[in-house]
Amino acid sequence: MSESYSEILAKADQAVAETAATLADDPQRPAYHLFTAANWINDPNGPCYYKGYWHMFFQHNPYIADFGPMGWGHVRSPDLVHWEHCPIAIMPSPDSYDAAGCWSGSVVIHDGLPTMIYSGVADMTLWSADDDLPPSDRQRIPQGYYHEFVLEIDQETQCIATSEDNLQTWQKHPANPVIPAIPEGMDLIGFRDPFLWKEEGDGRWYMLLGSGIKGQGGVALLYRSPDMISWEYLNPLYIGDPAESGINWECPNFLDLGKKRMLVVSPHGRPVYWLGNYANCRYTPDGPPRRLDWGDVFYAPNSLLDPNGRWLMWGWIREARPRDQYAAARWASCLTLPREISLDDSGHLLVKPAAELQQLRSATLFDDGVSVGDGNPNSLDGATGDKLEISLRVTSQDCEALGIQFRRSPDGAQYTQLAYDYRSGALRLTRDKSTDTAEVTVDPCEYALNLGDDEALNLTIFLDNSVIEIYANDQLSMTSRIYPSRDDAQGLRFFAQSGTATAQVTVWRMGSIWD
Ligand code: FRU
Repeated sequence: MSESYSEILAKADQAVAETAATLADDPQRPAYHLFTAANWINDPNGPCYYKGYWHMFFQHNPYIADFGPMGWGHVRSPDLVHWEHCPIAIMPSPDSYDAAGCWSGSVVIHDGLPTMIYSGVADMTLWSADDDLPPSDRQRIPQGYYHEFVLEIDQETQCIATSEDNLQTWQKHPANPVIPAIPEGMDLIGFRDPFLWKEEGDGRWYMLLGSGIKGQGGVALLYRSPDMISWEYLNPLYIGDPAESGINWECPNFLDLGKKRMLVVSPHGRPVYWLGNYANCRYTPDGPPRRLDWGDVFYAPNSLLDPNGRWLMWGWIREARPRDQYAAARWASCLTLPREISLDDSGHLLVKPAAELQQLRSATLFDDGVSVGDGNPNSLDGATGDKLEISLRVTSQDCEALGIQFRRSPDGAQYTQLAYDYRSGALRLTRDKSTDTAEVTVDPCEYALNLGDDEALNLTIFLDNSVIEIYANDQLSMTSRIYPSRDDAQGLRFFAQSGTATAQVTVWRMGSIWD
């Protein structure tokens, strides 16, 4: 007899628990970034706030540390800082519209009832190599993911599930799939990742689906529904230029930031965004797309308008070590810290870590003004660690470059460096000395940070074992990975080149998010 759906869920939870119990104490595993207790995680899904808890769901393969038939994992938090693992929310149902995967989507509270909308994938059979798209144009899954696939378009549908017990268990709706096919007459590449919102004074749900129009470019398709069950296709919200944003978009997000609307898409490479205007169900960007994160492992972000009217965003942080290494570790990937997204008075995008994260500061290891110059770096009173928040605010400088080394071994053989070059304006993360482990990605990450006339460099760096998140002057985030191979690579060093600099530096040890 085939398994019941509740047996499928129980088996998946058990697989995670069993693997989690055997996980070695892995020095690369983060302590304050969201992840699954074991095995594979990718996109953040359905962030929401309900009855005193923040909830985050995510793409999850409970069985191995690799992509596979995806379910939705689930964690929740009373304060956005401390989290607990919850039972797996949904898993594929054999022989059905989601047999091969419950892919990314959203959670909303519809008429008081928590309702999830996700993309059901019935079959993952790939287009054959002699299909009409050359391999280079196929949907490319970002590096670290290793799967390159284009699904048959009739295998992706949109499905809903509801929860009557505070989001702990979910019932797939009998009307599924609520969107069983692509809009008539369209020739699309991909059809997935619903993102929902409401317009002021309009009780209906609006939804974007990520796709691509063959021969045109990536597209966000706009739908509307009064009840989450019957959906009307309206029009493309916006079609991108394929030279700028690819032939297919995943995980569209649409944020009302007040003066501007922000469209975010994940085009199988670096996620990009536009700022622009929305009227009559169409979007008009102000200009070309811009990169959202300047690191090399950030993908498929998902966002939430929280009860305080603040937009929060999380992304998937991929691995930068090879598949055999993370498969052996039996865990792979995590999510970013929550980032607050807003506009400044002149309409520029601001990106900063959510203020709640300050609660994770468990001890102040260093807090002082520090002066450095050529041949005179400063190791911050020997403050050390691999789970730190570092704040560095330049108070005066007369140098060509300055920066900080972290995860530095006492002999200086191993370290990672973040430096700002005042001549070129480049903020650069270099990792060529980060590890001795072969095959780990160590390419530099760089951002052109233009400081205003009187604007001082202001860096916030989160180190969480193999995870690095850098924020600079509220202008940008840079998310990356390092895999230091030496136990003693724990030190810090602030330095300046060709001149002198003074900065206010604070270093906190960070606690764990798991109670
Ligand atoms: C993005 C993505 C989504 C899809 C999900 C599958 O990383 O490919 O388009 O819904 O991951 O896990």
